[in-house]
Amino acid sequence: MIEDLNSIRSDFPIFEFNPKLVYMDSAATSQRPKKVIDKVAEVYTQYNSNVHRGIYSMAEKVTEEYEDARKEIAAFLGTSAEELIFTKNTTESLNLVAYMLLPKLKNGVITITELEHHSNILPWRKVASLANAEIKTVAVDQEGKINEADFEKKISGTSVFSFAHVSNVAGTTLNAKKMIRTAKAEGAITVVDGAQAAPHIKLNLHDMGADFYALSGHKMLGPTGIGILYGNKKLLEDLEPPFSGGEMVKEVHAEGQEWNDVPWKFEPGTPNFAGAIGFGEAVKYLEKIGMGDIELYEKKLGRALVEELTKIDGLEYIGPMENRASLLSFKLRGYHPHDIAAFLDTRSIAVRSGFHCAQPLHEKFGFFDGSARASLYFYNNMEEIESLARALKELVKL
Ligand SMILES: Cc1ncc(COP(=O)(O)O)c(C=O)c1O
Repeated sequence: MIEDLNSIRSDFPIFEFNPKLVYMDSAATSQRPKKVIDKVAEVYTQYNSNVHRGIYSMAEKVTEEYEDARKEIAAFLGTSAEELIFTKNTTESLNLVAYMLLPKLKNGVITITELEHHSNILPWRKVASLANAEIKTVAVDQEGKINEADFEKKISGTSVFSFAHVSNVAGTTLNAKKMIRTAKAEGAITVVDGAQAAPHIKLNLHDMGADFYALSGHKMLGPTGIGILYGNKKLLEDLEPPFSGGEMVKEVHAEGQEWNDVPWKFEPGTPNFAGAIGFGEAVKYLEKIGMGDIELYEKKLGRALVEELTKIDGLEYIGPMENRASLLSFKLRGYHPHDIAAFLDTRSIAVRSGFHCAQPLHEKFGFFDGSARASLYFYNNMEEIESLARALKELVKL
């Protein structure tokens, strides 16, 4: 169990610089421990040089660190290193897989759900228009949970099924393994948007069985500008790289070329090597705390967040009561979500307001002005939830 939260918090310089800060916007981006910040600085100050290019010792050192980070992250996710492509973020990962799958989508069907972030809607709209494919959307019920009957109906005949493992608005956690099994039985290729799952849940991607899984380093203590696209090795070997250029190729002749092996054939140009190495350090830090412990602790936080906030008069929220992530998207009668966030800021509480890049989902639930969202991580505590509830009660009384 996470017992010594004070010592954990002291690993994060942001809390030292902002002693009053109640940071509740980790779904947008997490804070980073000093170890990660120091690691990125170490790369730039001690052995900065480009990866996979030089044969001098510094270039070999940085290449080794870059590939070691890939191995570290692969072990953390339950995959092998050759199946992990470094990208910029979840958005780039989803765009990349959408364009990789474009040749398989001619006149096909792409199925998503009503829970999706714009990053798991718009890339599919783009490739659907290029491939003359149809997009089907699986409905959710009033609690923001998948409508099973609609899923069974829409998954039939699907070429690609892409869904959020955890919703960034409703906090719904989907039974990914079961849904993937059903989709695969229908012959679909499965893609999972893991942006809100990977920071909070112990994953084993081989066991889960997804063909592709996308995530962002910056939401799980890593640097900005680094993400992952996991892809099943056989598929990665068979698929063409949608983007090309330096380093993703073995040989280029006046006519013709031979692509590099996986995963490098999907990493054209100079990668964010300092970011990748920093992300490896973030994963080591998460391993040290223990994803199992993080999951258990956040369950408690999530439950307390719902319990405390639903006591507030006029508060409505999106998502299920039980089995939810440690975040809550809500509105308060009589207040615009931006007014809520601005008021909370006067109490040093940082929450996000708006549509959180999931406007169709907000509209489905009649949240036409968006919502205010408090999203927690393992460095938050019960007192902070009480402070949030107290501040909201104060606002309601104004
Ligand atoms: C569910 C979900 N998918 C995708 C994204 C996009 O992540 P990024 O902005 O890191 O690409 C987010 C970010 O908030 C998200 O919550």
